[in-house]
Amino acid sequence: MSDEPNRVDRLPRSRLSRRRLIQAGGAFAGGLALGRIAQVGAQVPPPVPTELVPPPQPPWSAQGVPFTTVGFRSPYVGIQRAFAGDDPVSTRLTEGSNFTPLQDLDGIVTPADFHFQRNHAGTPIIDPAEHEVVVHGMVDRPKVYSMDALKRFPRRTELRFIECSGNSFGGYPGPEPDTTAQLLHGLTSTSEWGGVPMSTIMQDVGVQEGAEWALFEGADASRMTRSVPRSKLEDDSMLAYIQNGEPIRPDQGFPVRLLLPGWEGNAQIKWVRRIEFGSGPFWTKEETRHYSDAMPDGQSRQFTYEMEVKSTITWPSAGHQIPSPGFWEIHGIAWSGYGTVTGVEVSVDGGSTWDQAELMQPVLPKAHVRFRFPWVWDGSPRVIMSRATDDTGYSQPPRQELLQVRGVQHFYHFNAIQPWLVDSDGAVTNAMGQSAQDLEDAEVSEDYL
Ligand code: CO
Repeated sequence: MSDEPNRVDRLPRSRLSRRRLIQAGGAFAGGLALGRIAQVGAQVPPPVPTELVPPPQPPWSAQGVPFTTVGFRSPYVGIQRAFAGDDPVSTRLTEGSNFTPLQDLDGIVTPADFHFQRNHAGTPIIDPAEHEVVVHGMVDRPKVYSMDALKRFPRRTELRFIECSGNSFGGYPGPEPDTTAQLLHGLTSTSEWGGVPMSTIMQDVGVQEGAEWALFEGADASRMTRSVPRSKLEDDSMLAYIQNGEPIRPDQGFPVRLLLPGWEGNAQIKWVRRIEFGSGPFWTKEETRHYSDAMPDGQSRQFTYEMEVKSTITWPSAGHQIPSPGFWEIHGIAWSGYGTVTGVEVSVDGGSTWDQAELMQPVLPKAHVRFRFPWVWDGSPRVIMSRATDDTGYSQPPRQELLQVRGVQHFYHFNAIQPWLVDSDGAVTNAMGQSAQDLEDAEVSEDYL
C-alpha cells in the first residue's frame, strides 16, 4: 500500500466528493475509516482494514466490522505470491516471475490475485475505453476492434490452466532442499476464463487460404510477440477478457489476452493489441533466442507449445511440518496440456510401490485436477511422490530419465516426478537433486533424485 500516510492531503478536493465517499464504502464511520476512503478515492485498492481488527475477545461479545465494498481476507490468513530469492527489493521488480502459493491453496481454481505473474516489462495499466485490437495481414476484411465490439460476439467460458514453459526450471540443475512447491512449481494457475473464440474473429475478418500462422502482439513495453499456428486458433483458442467472473486482472492481461489452452504461457499474449495473419511463423525474438529448447546435441527445438503432464504433492511438501505419526491425507494437483489427467499414483516408499490416488471432481481437460491419498505415517523417514498420467497414455518421467534426454542445459518444460523427504521429526524438505546419502535412512531409487 501507499507509504504516504498523509495521502488524503494530497488529493484534489473534487475526488473526495460525497458520491465518491458513498461508492467507496461510506458506511464506515468516523475518522477510523477516513484514510481508507481517501485511498479508494485515489484509485488505490482497499487494504485489509487491520485497524478494524478487535482486540482479543470472544467474537460474539461485540458488533462485527461493517460491510465493505470489496471483500478482504481474514487478517489471520497470510497467503502470498512469492518471488524467487528473498531480497525484499524484488517486491518491486517489473521483470521476472511471481509464484502461486500452491502449498497454501485448495480446490482447482486459483484466486485471481494469487495467479502467477511472468512479465517482461511490468504490468501496463490500460484504459479499456481507449484499447483497440487490430487484425490485419492475410485477411479479406482488416478490422480494428474496440473492447465493446469484442464483447458483442457470443462468448465462451471454461476452466483452463496456464503454465509458464519455464515453470520448475530449477529441476534441471536441482533445487535446494528448502525449495517449496511454490518456488519450484508455482508458475501454473487455473482460472475460469471467458471471452470470444478466435475462430469467431477469424470468420469476421475472413482469414485467407494459406494464412497458416498469426502473430500476436501485446501492448506492454516489451511488445511481447509470438507466432501461433492457425490450427490452434481454429481449435480452442479465445480472446479472453473475463477471469473468475470479473474482468481479467491487469497482471493477467487486462483488458484482453490470448488464451491457448494447454500451451506454454508465453505464447498466450497478454494485453493483445495486434493480430497479423501470414503464411508462416514470424520468427520473433521470443521464439528464437528464448522459448526454444536447447538439446544436448547442440540443436534447438522450436515451437514446443504443449505443456506436458505433470503433478506435485502440495501437502505435505517442503516447509511443512507433520505434527505426529498417524493418519494424514496427502493431497496435490495434476494437469496436462495434451488433454485430461486420467490417473495419479502416489508412492510413500521412495518409488518402490505405487497406489492410485483419488481424483477429486471436477476432472477437466487442460485444467488443474486435485488428488488425495490416505496415508498412515509410521514415523520413519520417507520419500513421497506423485506420478500423473494423461489420456494420451503419457506419464511423468523420473528426473534422471528426463535429464538423460534433455541434458542439464535445458530450461523449459521440466515435468519430472517431484519427490519430498519426510524426516523422522516430521520436517518436510525437497528431495529432488539431493543424493541418496543426504536422505538419511529414507528408502528411494536414485532415478527419482
Ligand atoms: Co516450449
